[in-house]
Amino acid sequence: MEPRSFLCCAVVSLLIFCLRNGHAKIAPDYIHPCNDTSRECLVEATQFAIPEFVKGIPELGVPTLDPFTIDQLSIPLSGLKVTFYKGKVSGFRKCIVDNVVSELEKRYFGLEFHCNLTIKGQYGAVGRILLFPINGEGDAKVKLTNLRMKVDINTKYVKDENGLNHFALRNYKYSFDYGDRVSFDLKNLFKGSQELSDTVLAFLNDNWKSVAEEFGKPIVDYAVDLAIRTIEKFFAVVPYEELVNVPIPE
Ligand SMILES: *[C@@H]1O[C@H](CO)[C@@H](O)[C@H](O)[C@H]1NC(C)=O
Ligand SMILES: *[C@@H]1O[C@H](CO)[C@@H](O)[C@H](O)[C@H]1NC(C)=O
Repeated sequence: MEPRSFLCCAVVSLLIFCLRNGHAKIAPDYIHPCNDTSRECLVEATQFAIPEFVKGIPELGVPTLDPFTIDQLSIPLSGLKVTFYKGKVSGFRKCIVDNVVSELEKRYFGLEFHCNLTIKGQYGAVGRILLFPINGEGDAKVKLTNLRMKVDINTKYVKDENGLNHFALRNYKYSFDYGDRVSFDLKNLFKGSQELSDTVLAFLNDNWKSVAEEFGKPIVDYAVDLAIRTIEKFFAVVPYEELVNVPIPE
């Protein structure tokens, strides 16, 4: 083909492409829009998207969720001051989706899933936990087995500057339970005494449920808030029409 006719062809194809699509597709290929809001399709599409979604979309400003970092988090408790820092939380990519509900008219989106998560980092703790005095700092590793979570999101529809529709968040709430087991591996819980450190650690693990309930909420809040902000960012970038193949409610 001659250069001129090639160029001509290219321009014509581009025009046809543009006329057909209106705009180039933004959604990543792992998004398979459902043609209805059946549980079956939504669960399958969400499960399929998660391993890639959690990698984030750096070029669109959507952050990575697996692993995600916790630079520093203070956990305020009466009688005990705990700081967790240089943290890394991993495992979201293997979460199992249990239910997805999308009520487009009611502007409601619900998600239920369970995951095994590992939290690694450094901690410092001074005070008392249950009956034990603690004055420690060092490596921390916490494993959660089958953490279950349910997130309820109220959405709305907004138009961007190009007139394209997007989901946006009005508000959300969530509930969770720590699942089957939380195990703690905290080094040096009692500075200078390995024996006391081991005793306190064994005690924490024997009472994992109460310990998780005392400490866990700020970390889970942090994780959920990050996940929600990621979803929000994703909605702001990817138009409604690329996420669901169902006309937007009036
Ligand atoms: C939706 O319908 C289109 C066209 O019939 C089809 O290609 C696509 O696979 C369907 N999507 C899903 C998730 O079933
Ligand atoms: C978490 O780990 C447990 C035990 O290793 C396993 O039985 C379970 O299927 C895992 N759950 C998920 C969501 O991967």
